[in-house]
Amino acid sequence: MSSSPQLWSGRFSEPVSARVQRYTASIGFDYRLAEFDIQGSLAHARMLAHCGIISAVDLADIETGLQAILQDIRAGHFEWKLELEDVHLNIEKALTERVGDAGKRLHTGRSRNDQVATDIRLWLRYHIDMILAALRDNQRALATLAEQHADVLMPGHTHLQVAQPVSFGHHMLAYYEMLARDIERMTDCRRRTNRLPLGSAALAGTSYPIDRDMVARELGFDGICANSLDAVSDRDFAIEFCAAASLIMTHLSRFAEELILWMNPRFGFIDLPDRFCTGSSIMPQKKNPDVPELMRGKTGRVNGHLVSLLTLMKSQPLAYNKDNQEDKEPLFDTVDTLLDTLTISAEMIAGIQLRPQAMLDALRDGYATATDLADYLVKKGLPFRDAHEAVARAVRLAETRGCDLAGLTLDELQSFSDLIETDVYGVLSLAGSAASRNHPGGTAPAQVLAAAQRAKRMLD
Ligand code: ARG
Repeated sequence: MSSSPQLWSGRFSEPVSARVQRYTASIGFDYRLAEFDIQGSLAHARMLAHCGIISAVDLADIETGLQAILQDIRAGHFEWKLELEDVHLNIEKALTERVGDAGKRLHTGRSRNDQVATDIRLWLRYHIDMILAALRDNQRALATLAEQHADVLMPGHTHLQVAQPVSFGHHMLAYYEMLARDIERMTDCRRRTNRLPLGSAALAGTSYPIDRDMVARELGFDGICANSLDAVSDRDFAIEFCAAASLIMTHLSRFAEELILWMNPRFGFIDLPDRFCTGSSIMPQKKNPDVPELMRGKTGRVNGHLVSLLTLMKSQPLAYNKDNQEDKEPLFDTVDTLLDTLTISAEMIAGIQLRPQAMLDALRDGYATATDLADYLVKKGLPFRDAHEAVARAVRLAETRGCDLAGLTLDELQSFSDLIETDVYGVLSLAGSAASRNHPGGTAPAQVLAAAQRAKRMLD
């Protein structure tokens, strides 16, 4: 006879080895679902009683027992047992120890398959809401910086070469927009996550007269999953969550990369507070941007989790397979990494200190108003390609002179086109260049200020 304590053990003639027990158990990580497992069980039990499947007395016992277990778990007193395999069996066993037969009736009309699918959806929904709040904190920090520095000019780059002057605020609002789409994606993913699998039982539904809508309402789901086979087996909501998380990390990673560059003395555009940097154990002069570097680095593991889940799912026949137990660690780590990263990045953004003079110097070195000069000639009737050529020659002269375009004399400028007059110096100024891009989506400081204020109002 088997001495195995597993709840499904009656059918088995020998216990699993300790190694197999360890290999198949998920309690080492799925204990994190406990609160949601209890929520789900309470809703299930209430429905069973409501439908006359268990008695009111059993329900009362289940409720008291589960509340007590929840207190124990929160207080850190609950003892998780490996031999009970997972969070569901651990809690059910503890319930039965407390309240006897009522505990054994809880699992009526239910399977761990629809139970775990429900738990994960509840867990993920809770964390999506935290992530949405953290995304908004980042947006608020970006919009605040943008509002404060709408008229600070910095080089806008293409190919990492100085291109045209842009407002620092404009640059911040570019990330605000990326995060706005991330919020849309997360909100959309939340809608599909927020459906109830319970009632699907192992795979085919159950013969008890259950009321799935009641459970859905009780748990705050928008509705029930419409097909039992699909409900217990697919994890597409977790996969799309990870895809949305990868994009958020990708956006933050791009920003981190820029902060790293801007903090390098060759750029010197910004400084980051010491609390986001570390020194070197050997080179005393160093201040390393560790936090943004880790944001960039951690993007790799989040991308990896997305691929893990896609691969986990791709060959599974319907319906539930134990493979799905492997969904949790990638999902948990994605959420942990993302929430930490978003929390730290909101604080870091708020701490960015600008060095506007370095930005101006880089603009002058980069001939950032060359396009403006070309546009000036076009407006005076020169075809754009000819204007482009004339300005290219002017830049070459300025390079040999070691000055910016505004440093050339009127005579020198006129040697490239007789359309050039004294008003050209207004066009060659950095402020004039930025201010002229005065349309929605453009970098004119007035537009940026208005956009930043709009963004802040949206967040309030
Ligand atoms: N620990 C399992 C999981 O995470 C729970 C579901 C187990 N179901 C089963 N039929 N073995 O997927």
